[in-house]
Amino acid sequence: MKFIPDCHPNEVTDEDIVRHRRRFLKNAGILATSGFLPGCDSRAEEKAQHNQKPDCKPYNLLCEEVTAEKYATSYNNFYEFSLLKDGPARLAKDFNPHPWEVKVAGLVEQPGTYDLEKLIAGLPNEERIYRFRCVEAWSMVIPWNGFALHHLIRRLKPLSSARYVAFETLYDPNRMPNQHRHVIPWPYREGLRMDEAMNELAFMATGMYGKPLPNQNGAPIRLVVPWKYGFKSIKSIVAIHFTDKQPVNSWHQIAPQEYGFYANVNPAVDHPRWSQASERRIGAKASLFNPRIKTLPFNGYGEYVADLYKGMDLRRFF
Ligand code: MTE
Repeated sequence: MKFIPDCHPNEVTDEDIVRHRRRFLKNAGILATSGFLPGCDSRAEEKAQHNQKPDCKPYNLLCEEVTAEKYATSYNNFYEFSLLKDGPARLAKDFNPHPWEVKVAGLVEQPGTYDLEKLIAGLPNEERIYRFRCVEAWSMVIPWNGFALHHLIRRLKPLSSARYVAFETLYDPNRMPNQHRHVIPWPYREGLRMDEAMNELAFMATGMYGKPLPNQNGAPIRLVVPWKYGFKSIKSIVAIHFTDKQPVNSWHQIAPQEYGFYANVNPAVDHPRWSQASERRIGAKASLFNPRIKTLPFNGYGEYVADLYKGMDLRRFF
């Protein structure tokens, strides 16, 4: 059996390879010692057994159980379609995300309205297996397909005066029927500081589980920011705006005392109405003794992102 990942040398650093070897060896150890320890991601085992090239990124969760696709695609937050978790899968069924245009504006060298397929053509496609932690204290582990956001930003060439990037979801009540109701101030908006957006982990998903993104998960393109609460991961994006001012983000606009701009996953800072110290992993078998799992600072991605917030009081900038 081959448990050492066979990465292309240009794609990874020596350190990446060592880390992955460790993880794969750990994998092998767990396999050898039966089911006593929590099971590794069967996808990693499968890939290793079939001698497939694993996803050699140190932050890819090869050893964590991936949430079953049926949960990730039927337990959703997408207020443009429904406020119920099972609503978007039913009510977005007939939404047609093709063709799709994205407007690029603000402090950028390449403003314009682009056909999505042309805008992202040729950007390096990859799979990222990320934890996804909602501010409501549930979580999943999802294999996304897409590209790192920094590739797109580099293509658009923001001016050096751009300090933030803002995103907007489609506003079209005829296609997103819940927008007929004033549930939130439409369109849904989100934003990142430019250094956050350029971080290797910030991702634009166009697919999940190796398939095009389902409508209920934000087709045809959405943001995925794995170290932040899920509401930052805006769906069905039609506008990208580069700016020197902190952009409005919908949940902060709705309830500023409850939802911040940064929204970094932080077990030490509770939501005013519930604890953020632990979470419920959707679809996972709950143990009688431990039905919840501990929430990790930055959702477990601190080694890649904590530096972005050096010197900041994360209670104040929550
Ligand atoms: N984007 C838009 N446009 N509308 C939304 O209601 N909900 C957010 C985020 N992006 C939302 C959105 C919230 S609160 C979460 S937790 C995630 O999407 C849920 O993503 P999922 O349904 O793919 O799990």
